Amino acid sequence: MIAIAGGTGRLGSLVVRRLAERQLDVRVIARDPARAVHPRDLPVEIVSADVRDRSGICAALQGASTVLSAVQGFAGPGRVSPQSVDRDGNANLIDAAADLGADVVLMSVVGASAQHPMDLFRAKHAAEQYVIASRTRWTIVRASAFLELWENIMSKPIVCGRGENPINFVSVHDVAAGVERAILDPSVRGQLIEVGGPQNLTFNELAALQQRARGETGKIRHIPRAILRAAAPLSRQARAALAMDTIDMTFDTPHPDLEIKRPTEPLKAFSRR
Ligand SMILES: NC(=O)c1ccc[n+]([C@@H]2O[C@H](COP(=O)([O-])OP(=O)(O)OC[C@H]3O[C@@H](n4cnc5c(N)ncnc54)[C@H](OP(=O)(O)O)[C@@H]3O)[C@@H](O)[C@H]2O)c1
Repeated sequence: MIAIAGGTGRLGSLVVRRLAERQLDVRVIARDPARAVHPRDLPVEIVSADVRDRSGICAALQGASTVLSAVQGFAGPGRVSPQSVDRDGNANLIDAAADLGADVVLMSVVGASAQHPMDLFRAKHAAEQYVIASRTRWTIVRASAFLELWENIMSKPIVCGRGENPINFVSVHDVAAGVERAILDPSVRGQLIEVGGPQNLTFNELAALQQRARGETGKIRHIPRAILRAAAPLSRQARAALAMDTIDMTFDTPHPDLEIKRPTEPLKAFSRR
């Protein structure tokens, strides 16, 4: 059985669907099964657990041969944080998987490091180190920014900061294909796989492409860096926006097997540039 923590999320629900369509035995771990709308039409088991609750996670994983962690605590309901979910929650999942003898596929982010200015990237780095040091057979999948998430966030043409910093965007469908392979292919255990998209784009370019795709015109509005700086002490989102406006978020050396250049709708719009 494949247990998927984060199986209700943007990426996790796609992976759940792919595995269920192969008739594989899938269990979704969700804090509130009533909110787990995505997999409801699929023959999957939904079990309630919070990765921050060690004993609950041990019980929820019973019988798993592989565990996928596709959770994130950067944003979302339930007073989550990168420290409690991405670092400590992943440690709980990894320990529970190790006790069961299950393999672990851990979702991380391109650029994860101990010194990164974003706490999410530091927490992902800690989880990577934890799984590497664990007794499990692991695969780490790092992805760049999910295009579909940013299309949603930028449904209005408002850009944080100057919007001139190139960022790599990848379709979540391509990431799901990479994760599915990481789960099913035992030859990638002990490997860190990076999945990125074909292009680095600035937020100004992304906003302009979205406008063009929707046939809209008009000025792209900016939230100045000074406002983001003022909000930064109290807002994780403002700190992240500042980081994304200034640090290197590009991706130039994708994994040769997993860089899938199948154009998605938005990427077709990109290629018209
Ligand atoms: N979004 C991106 O641009 C991006 C880029 C690179 C890597 N990633 C990584 O890819 C993975 C999936 O990202 P996503 O954007 O698809 O996530 P998402 O849609 O925001 O979903 C987050 C998932 O985490 C689960 N979760 C959060 N806190 C939890 C907790 N305490 N206990 C159990 N489950 C919890 C949620 O489940 P419930 O709310 O149902 O409990 C939900 O299924 C994450 O690991 C993320 O860090 C994302």
